Amino acid sequence: LQSTYEAKVADAGDAAALEAVRVAALGKQGEITQLLKTLGKMSPDERKTEGPKIHAARQAVQDAIEAKKAELEKAELDARLKTETLDLSLPADEAPRGSVHPVSQVMDELAEIFADLGFKVAEGPEIEDDWHNFGALNIPEAHPARAMQDTFYVENDGEGAPPVLRTHTSPVQIRTMMTEQPPIRIIAPGRVYRSDSDATHTPMFHQIEGLVIDKGVHLGHLKWTLETFLKAFFERDDIVLRLRPSYFPFTEPSAEVDVGWSVEKGRRVVGGQEGWMEVLGSGMVHPKVIANCGLDPDEYQGFAFGCGIDRLAMLKYGMDDLRAFFDGDLRWLRHYGFNF
Ligand code: PHE
Repeated sequence: LQSTYEAKVADAGDAAALEAVRVAALGKQGEITQLLKTLGKMSPDERKTEGPKIHAARQAVQDAIEAKKAELEKAELDARLKTETLDLSLPADEAPRGSVHPVSQVMDELAEIFADLGFKVAEGPEIEDDWHNFGALNIPEAHPARAMQDTFYVENDGEGAPPVLRTHTSPVQIRTMMTEQPPIRIIAPGRVYRSDSDATHTPMFHQIEGLVIDKGVHLGHLKWTLETFLKAFFERDDIVLRLRPSYFPFTEPSAEVDVGWSVEKGRRVVGGQEGWMEVLGSGMVHPKVIANCGLDPDEYQGFAFGCGIDRLAMLKYGMDDLRAFFDGDLRWLRHYGFNF
């Protein structure tokens, strides 16, 4: 019986076959198990001679099964190792890698330029309340900037002025002056919203706000700061600025700043002085705005400016349609060297 089963174990080709042999021999109804049960009915003498033989047979078959099982498992592992090899020397698939969007890239550049001038980055919410976006900035109720065609309003419960999608980054001036003591030197880059759309306007665009509040600040500081920033940003020394008197409710005096352009290789570039284009709004912070924030306008003065980031990016990289910035068209990004 032992040799019959040992042969069957040797013949078992896989785990299932081996298990069938085990059940047939050593299972509850197994032949060897049954044989063991006969021991009880034997005479003591018989048991003495037969018992050890049966136990030995059982042990032998069990050992054979264990050995075979280990052998089968090893064979299976070897087979898997042969078929599932991993060739680490194979070159990896080319996976497309993202790059930083031109607008984000320009924001990073600006943050770096202004960090060198001692400015830190401040932030404010894109959903802004009426007071921060308008009131505290001395923009009167009837000012056209509040009119429906410019401002996106956010629905509210009807009590009080509805919140707005901030129409400029200037509310960050207010938030900063309310929470920090002078000297203040901040920039605030971020998204702003106006309901307007054509080749040079998108309903969402980006601005960077600058604010300096200290003692004895004057227009000369503003002009030097803007000149230094634009020279660093366009990486040219022949940047010429022209401050044009203008009006903003939150600055007095106010100036729109034009930068000189010239034509190089048939393209209009910033630098030189063949013509002028407007790049930002600025001015000395209105004393009323300073007072609205709880600071004493007799003690503190300052300047502020606000500049379209997307415009800056278009000028620097020679792009002509603002809307393409926000289409996410990979061909456009690749064309301008942003490698996706
Ligand atoms: N907030 C103004 C705008 O959106 C720009 C500005 C900022 C002007 C700061 C003066 C001072 O056009």
